[in-house]
Amino acid sequence: MTLAAGSPDPSRPADYLPIGPLPAAIRRRRSYPRVTTDAPSTAELLPLLDAAATVADHAALRPWRVIELRADARERLGTAFVEESGLSDEGAARLAAKPLRAPLLLAIVAVHKPSFKVHDWEQDAAAAGVAHLLTLLLDDAGWGVMWRSGGHTRSEAVRRVHRLAENEVLLGWLYVGGKPETTKADARQTFDVTSAISTL
Ligand SMILES: Cc1cc2nc3c(=O)[nH]c(=O)nc-3n(C[C@H](O)[C@H](O)[C@H](O)COP(=O)(O)O)c2cc1C
Repeated sequence: MTLAAGSPDPSRPADYLPIGPLPAAIRRRRSYPRVTTDAPSTAELLPLLDAAATVADHAALRPWRVIELRADARERLGTAFVEESGLSDEGAARLAAKPLRAPLLLAIVAVHKPSFKVHDWEQDAAAAGVAHLLTLLLDDAGWGVMWRSGGHTRSEAVRRVHRLAENEVLLGWLYVGGKPETTKADARQTFDVTSAISTL
């Protein structure tokens, strides 16, 4: 970190300017609740996933995988959302349409590998790390992304659509599409990070 001009106050992190393009890309990223019908191809996704795969990963278990849902796979997912929701009529139709909000959904699957020393929670942390990095990389490559989940994320019907194995759990979906020409994101809420750090 380097000091900003003026009289920096060490208790105010904003007075320090992080060096390099990465912090700027991280700060620039926003979630896109609405996206266009453009979507990255599998070939376009691969280099981004390859970069995201370098995330910290205890014992290099690679405890994750990603499933692409396009076209009518999204409709099957919508039907699965409804199956255990208890909704009918308009409510069911609205829920069934939720996966259609983006042309591409990337299901993030944590794959729990047998390991004496790396517990499932550590493996979930690595899988979530891949999802966060992939979100950032997609955003940086010009795609609109929003990580979504919901009460139905771990329902049996949803598991079945993804053909999950016993040792797999879903961490939600990255909804991916084109960034619309005009979009208005709410201003980020300020968060005083000094309240979230302490010293033992
Ligand atoms: C695991 C996970 C699941 C999420 N699920 C939802 C969701 O179902 N609905 C939602 O509105 N936001 C959800 N979010 C939050 C959004 O992805 C997003 O971070 C939030 O709207 C703030 O926008 P920002 O990313 O531009 O700061 C989820 C985030 C994570 C990490």
